[in-house]
Amino acid sequence: MAASDDAATEPVTENLAGRRDELAAQIAQHNARYFEHDEPEISDAAFDALIRELRTLVDEHPELDDWELPIYHPGGSPSATFAPVIHLVPMLSLDNAFSRDELFAWGERLDRVIVGTTFVAEPKMDGLAISLLYRDGRLAIGATRGDGVTGEDVTANVATISGLPTRLRGSSLPGVLEVRGEIYMPTTSFEELNRRQAEAEARLFANPRNAAAGSLRQKDSSVTASRDLALFCYQLGAKEGGPRLRTHTETLSWMRELGFPVNPLIDQHDDLESVYGFCHSMEEQRHTLGYEIDGVVVKVDDLAQRDELGFTSRAPRWAIAYKFPPEEKTTKLLGIMVSIGRTGRATPFAQLEPVFVGGSTVGLATLHNEDEVARRDLRVGDTVVVRKAGDVIPEVTGPVLAERKKGRRRWKFPTKCPVCSRPLVRLDGEANHYCVNVDCPAQRVQRIVHFASRGAMDIEGLGEERVAQFVEAGLLDDAGDIYGLTAAQLVPLERIAEVSAQNLIDAIAASTSRGLARVLVGLNIRNVGPTAAKALARALGNLERIEHATPEELTAIEGVGPILVQSIQRFFTIDENRRIVDKLRRAEVGLEGPPPAVPLDTGGVSLVGLTFVLTGGMEAFTRESAQAAIEARGAKVTATVSKKTSFVVVGENPGLKFAKAEQLGVAILDEAGFTQVLHEGARPPEKPVKQAKKQAKKREGAEDG
Ligand code: IVH
Repeated sequence: MAASDDAATEPVTENLAGRRDELAAQIAQHNARYFEHDEPEISDAAFDALIRELRTLVDEHPELDDWELPIYHPGGSPSATFAPVIHLVPMLSLDNAFSRDELFAWGERLDRVIVGTTFVAEPKMDGLAISLLYRDGRLAIGATRGDGVTGEDVTANVATISGLPTRLRGSSLPGVLEVRGEIYMPTTSFEELNRRQAEAEARLFANPRNAAAGSLRQKDSSVTASRDLALFCYQLGAKEGGPRLRTHTETLSWMRELGFPVNPLIDQHDDLESVYGFCHSMEEQRHTLGYEIDGVVVKVDDLAQRDELGFTSRAPRWAIAYKFPPEEKTTKLLGIMVSIGRTGRATPFAQLEPVFVGGSTVGLATLHNEDEVARRDLRVGDTVVVRKAGDVIPEVTGPVLAERKKGRRRWKFPTKCPVCSRPLVRLDGEANHYCVNVDCPAQRVQRIVHFASRGAMDIEGLGEERVAQFVEAGLLDDAGDIYGLTAAQLVPLERIAEVSAQNLIDAIAASTSRGLARVLVGLNIRNVGPTAAKALARALGNLERIEHATPEELTAIEGVGPILVQSIQRFFTIDENRRIVDKLRRAEVGLEGPPPAVPLDTGGVSLVGLTFVLTGGMEAFTRESAQAAIEARGAKVTATVSKKTSFVVVGENPGLKFAKAEQLGVAILDEAGFTQVLHEGARPPEKPVKQAKKQAKKREGAEDG
């Protein structure tokens, strides 16, 4: 089991920024697994916990907020297999409530804006969201959600779903209609499909949602047709023409009339007490419905009230997803072991009788540290409660005391490292035990694994198993040795074919040009995460300068504080570290960063007082250089579009910020316009509406005169 062995967590902003980056990277990775590969690694509850932590972090530290963060971009990026479709109305996500209190807190937020609300409560289908576009009553496009703005064209595939109307019924049909719903696979069909997969020795689907997603995203629509997919519709997007709808209830009945399948369990409620009752009853029935749900979506019924409530940058204010608490199961605690991480931290973990919980089978679970084991009073042999929540890794919440046999002993933290047998020590005031031996093979392996990991040098194919194998074979002592490996050395080893040996050597060679920031992350310098590494690389440009920088030079860099300075300086005093750096140098691994910023020539243009928001890619600017050009002229760059934003600079493939800018009537600049503003300056723009009126007036005046 790979121990998660983060550096010590001092409460400094650079660590928070590090945590933010870490969360963002994890979320992006899980998003990709979920949306692009239909193969999630963690449960929804665990994923939600990551999202929540990131939201709380940026809510509490707005200086760390950034539009690029995945909380603002629900969903994955569209793939190359299917043509992109831009949704007429973006497909947003929903904010979540995880308890009765959070549901009622949402109600209070509503009460500040509207009076006298009724609600519609709907089972929250655990499938995949779909947008169906009808032109003059005929299905024109079926598209996945994608990143919310752009989805994938899966029309041929959705058209095979029974119950999905390809032609709408009725007379006064709208010219354009976007209908949103969820494609799902009924539980029995899922089980049947997995039976077939097993017979064919094909890969099994982890759960019905993955099976649905995998079945829909097929190149060959006859495969989709052979899978039993179903649909429930629950929302409208764009609508041109058709009847005037006043409430969601009316919308749903109209959708039924047009021929859309709408979940019969959807119900209207006068207050949240009644809604909560519905949530409760749904939770009790969730395993007998015949399809998977993971909560209840609660929506304001009155459409005019919805307009008043509007949206936040990520979700409508008029709806909330009440999520069921994470599933819990009991199983047997077979043993408690300890794993050693890259800093020597010894993390206890539970060995469990495998149990299916929260969407996957769990056999191991971290127990964090000695106190956590004691707090839960876990004893080997106990029946324990397991759930997946609050962390990526499953959790053992505690023992079932009623089932404890007499004579079971309390667990004691081992005094010796399970790998090198040297002492494990716990220092005063520390929660963790550490293996004192820096030469411990386990630490060695983990340090090398970290160096090669995706967040650092990203050497594909060099994971824990391989590293352990190479260390064992005496080929690797530290990360510096990676670059001395040859295919001839690897081929004789077990389980390594010639092709994979060569691929690995190629991947290693490719990693030499990842740049200084990634090298810094890989070197295991305490407290240096991606954010600090980038700042150091940008400010000082090469490893040599970082090594010899004075504390004053280092603290002058934004985001670098005294703790970081100490870690950096300590790192370079350790012989082994210097040896690694030497090896990297000799192997010509690039140890340079972007060149240090030179003062920008502003041509005397000042943009003081203006606020810019950037979205999409530009030709002549990177995000950083655009930001630098703006800031050099005294203006600010912010992450979110508001009425106070002076300009939104829109490049290729802009995000939701573009839509937001249009919605708020904020002035928009394309790349040419932006360049012009940088060269010639600008006054705060007037609101487009006013501008248009003014121009109209001017024209009138000119004609008059
Ligand atoms: S309404 C702007 N209703 O939940 C509101 N969503 O977490 C759009 N979902 O992307 C969503 N059942 O895939 C809505 N009855 C329901 C739903 C539902 C499942 C999914 C949907 C959405 C996600 C948001």
